[in-house]
Amino acid sequence: MIYRLNMTEHAPAETRLPQRRNLVTEIPGPVSRELLARRERAVARGVSTVLPVFVTDAGGGVVVDVDGNSLIDFGSGIAVVSVGNAAPRVAARVAEQAGRFTHTCFMVTPYEGYVEVCEELARRTPGAYEKRSALFNSGAEAVENAVKIARHATRRQAVIAFDHGYHGRTNLTMALTAKNMPYKDKFGPFAGEIYRMPMAYPLRWPGGREACAADALPTIKSLIHTQVGEDNVAAVIIEPIQGEGGFVVPPDGFLPGLAEFCAEHGIVFIADEIQTGFCRTGDWFACGHEGVVPDLITTAKGIAGGLPLAAVTGRAEIMDSVHVGGLGGTYGGNPVACAAALGAIETMAAEDLPARARRIGDVMLPRLHKLAETYQVIADVRGRGAMLAVELTRPGTLDPDPATTAAVARACHQAGLVTLTCGTFGNVLRFLPPLVIGEDLLDEGLSILEDAFAAACG
Ligand SMILES: Cc1ncc(COP(=O)(O)O)c(C=O)c1O
Repeated sequence: MIYRLNMTEHAPAETRLPQRRNLVTEIPGPVSRELLARRERAVARGVSTVLPVFVTDAGGGVVVDVDGNSLIDFGSGIAVVSVGNAAPRVAARVAEQAGRFTHTCFMVTPYEGYVEVCEELARRTPGAYEKRSALFNSGAEAVENAVKIARHATRRQAVIAFDHGYHGRTNLTMALTAKNMPYKDKFGPFAGEIYRMPMAYPLRWPGGREACAADALPTIKSLIHTQVGEDNVAAVIIEPIQGEGGFVVPPDGFLPGLAEFCAEHGIVFIADEIQTGFCRTGDWFACGHEGVVPDLITTAKGIAGGLPLAAVTGRAEIMDSVHVGGLGGTYGGNPVACAAALGAIETMAAEDLPARARRIGDVMLPRLHKLAETYQVIADVRGRGAMLAVELTRPGTLDPDPATTAAVARACHQAGLVTLTCGTFGNVLRFLPPLVIGEDLLDEGLSILEDAFAAACG
């Protein structure tokens, strides 16, 4: 960096905000309810809300609302504020950058921050090969561009995606996304040349977990061979741990095998690490768990501590196959978002957030397993690091139980714990605490979850 930052105004959340849960009204409180009524008159119905408390402040492991309630955060704004909300290094760099210039368009007159983010991406992402990156505004935009780049580099068109996969809400990414409601319903026609394969989903693979580990890869290879043809395939895109689809963790060996299959056939292997990336699973990237090296990797969410930034990073020869002017956009790699990313990445390295994510997993997993022993409704406990979930079914079956899932989530919300649901069947409770959350809050959040199960399941 060529300039110095004044950090004194940007106090850590622990000193700025009491790190404790404190409910002073019902949830949502009266001021939130007023704002909700205004929201309903002004904001389109299609934009949903999980928990209608309006936020005035957030940091560390808490979110504070307009009624003065302080809630424990197990959501991180959907896996975004891994470094904490308004993290000091992020806030300081954003303020400093916003005071100098906010936009020139990198394609018109460039600036150092963009290049620095790309250098960090080359350094941090898996793969020792020479890399290039391009920056965008959202995860969906990064995925769209990864597909564009793979098609251009291979001169092939077909793209392989997976059951339960989620890649965004733009036209091409809706086509890649598996789930109809709410993401795709009546929004077609969708982009073509997308082929969907079964996902290696241990709980739900016919024949069970062992069959999944043994059969998923051969099944998929055979389907690609017979239904698409390997040399028509530009790219295989997969989330190393599926996010919106239910935190589905494929069996060990599946991702390396898939990457190897792609390499054999000149197919670009795209790891969509938009949700799993930047320390969430206990490694800088989830591919690192089994040493998988993708050709292209898409990142967003955790990259910039809450500011909109996304990237495609990959092998120089693939990325640079695109002609000059073929990639870009007015705002992609905005200087304020790049400053935020540099602050976020610096925080992850300085505070060893991969280790924090592993520690969160070590604290949470035993208690989630204990819950599963107590409540038959929990059919599976899964995830890695600070990306954990429980899947709920009717006891003794694989029939999804979205009603109990929603009841548990509601009970958590009422008690001041922000939790999210996900899954193709809406029957997965997922936990994504900020990686800087204090252990007291983590424990208290787990106790609230235990009480919520007791209330919902008797
Ligand atoms: C794996 C994955 N890919 C892509 C996206 C889309 O990102 P965005 O919402 O920033 O467009 C998401 C968002 O949840 C995601 O989890």
